Amino acid sequence: MTEKQTWSQRFESALHPAIARFNASINFDIELIEYDLTGSQAHAKMLAHTGIISSAEGEKLVTALEQIRQEYRQGKFTPGIDAEDVHFAVEKRLTEIIGDIGKKIHTARSRNDQVGTDTRLYLRDQIQQIRQQLRQFQTVLLDLAEANVETLIPGYTHLQRAQPISLAHHLLAYWQMAQRDWERLADVNKRVNISPLGCGALAGTTFPIDREYTAKLLEFDHIYANSLDGVSDRDFAIEFLSAASIIMVHLSRLSEEVILWASEEFRFITLKDSCATGSSIMPQKKNPDVPELVRGKTGRVFGHLQAMLVIMKGLPLAYNKDLQEDKEGIFDSVNTIKNCLEAMTILFQEGLEFRPQRLAVAVTEDFSNATDVADYLAAKGVPFREAYNLVGKIVKTSISSGKLLKDLTLEEWQTLHPAIEADIYEAITPKQVVAARNSHGGTGFNQIRQAILAAKKELSMI
Ligand code: ARG
Repeated sequence: MTEKQTWSQRFESALHPAIARFNASINFDIELIEYDLTGSQAHAKMLAHTGIISSAEGEKLVTALEQIRQEYRQGKFTPGIDAEDVHFAVEKRLTEIIGDIGKKIHTARSRNDQVGTDTRLYLRDQIQQIRQQLRQFQTVLLDLAEANVETLIPGYTHLQRAQPISLAHHLLAYWQMAQRDWERLADVNKRVNISPLGCGALAGTTFPIDREYTAKLLEFDHIYANSLDGVSDRDFAIEFLSAASIIMVHLSRLSEEVILWASEEFRFITLKDSCATGSSIMPQKKNPDVPELVRGKTGRVFGHLQAMLVIMKGLPLAYNKDLQEDKEGIFDSVNTIKNCLEAMTILFQEGLEFRPQRLAVAVTEDFSNATDVADYLAAKGVPFREAYNLVGKIVKTSISSGKLLKDLTLEEWQTLHPAIEADIYEAITPKQVVAARNSHGGTGFNQIRQAILAAKKELSMI
């Protein structure tokens, strides 16, 4: 290092170059620059408003900060390692532009409350963007559900065919997960949107600042009540990473299903060329790279949550440099979530096609209507457990004679139980099996239509 650092008057010599690199965060916290500028503008206005600096000085600071914003957007402001972090970089440039007045920006402020302010402003913005993306994803799922109310697909438990369901029901389950994600992020935002600005290094400040004033300018809902807590709290980051991890759980589960559905074993969907890739050696292959990547990227978001929890667990009050480690995980999680949501939205909008004929066969070639025979008998007064055992018996004999339930003769049915009549055949068709599950939240077509209406209302589509 040729230059000494901003804090260097107390220091006799400059940092070892490797230590300067080790200490610096400018390479990644430059991501916060727009928020840093906005935060500093609010701070400058407050300093002028309270008379800590003159209003002319306040205006000069605000204008120069705006100039830095323009320089940054035009690619003309590219601070290097010397600056240490984005906060020092901006302060340095400010002083280059307006001289000594620039040095006043840090009155009654510390980088500790400053970085906390920036990170919260960044996250608040990103949360809004992610919530919008969740809405788009939900819209695509809903459109697909609406087009497939009467498309049947095997429903599974233990990955064994259990009961046929409406494909729309399956898709709407993911719609619900996305709905919770959307709500959860709004809730996380309540803890993100609290201002630490004015907490100073840790103990507040001797200047007559007005914290409510900056909070209002920056559209924070509240201010931190305790300055030690304000500069060292990262609960909001843990909460965000937790909500981000849950979003990834949902996307990863859906990805896993798409991967299974696209396999030769299932053949429920075809991947379109726009969203599938080939193999470098096997010319016949079409690979589900998109959902595989989403499933794979889930790991890094979980990792960032774990890292943040570990960063915090041993920290004495108040600020410790460990906290600089919060940023890369947050940035990477935000980018990962946004990329995955975009890719999955495109995949479901235009990247895959369900195969109705294949699905129709899949719901008729097994015993997933066995529960319905038991229900049929139970509705005629046979105690359910007794009905269940009877049907178990007929499934067993049918398997050994290579028949499905629909192929049994009426005599065979009546040997099983005399209460069975010719309407049994209708009762066990896949369509009737699905339609009959009309309990609240079930897969019955009437339920699905109501669920679609409710979802449309939620998305303000009607
Ligand atoms: N770059 C630092 C961070 O990200 C800014 C705060 C530095 N504060 C300090 N007391 N060294 O946390």
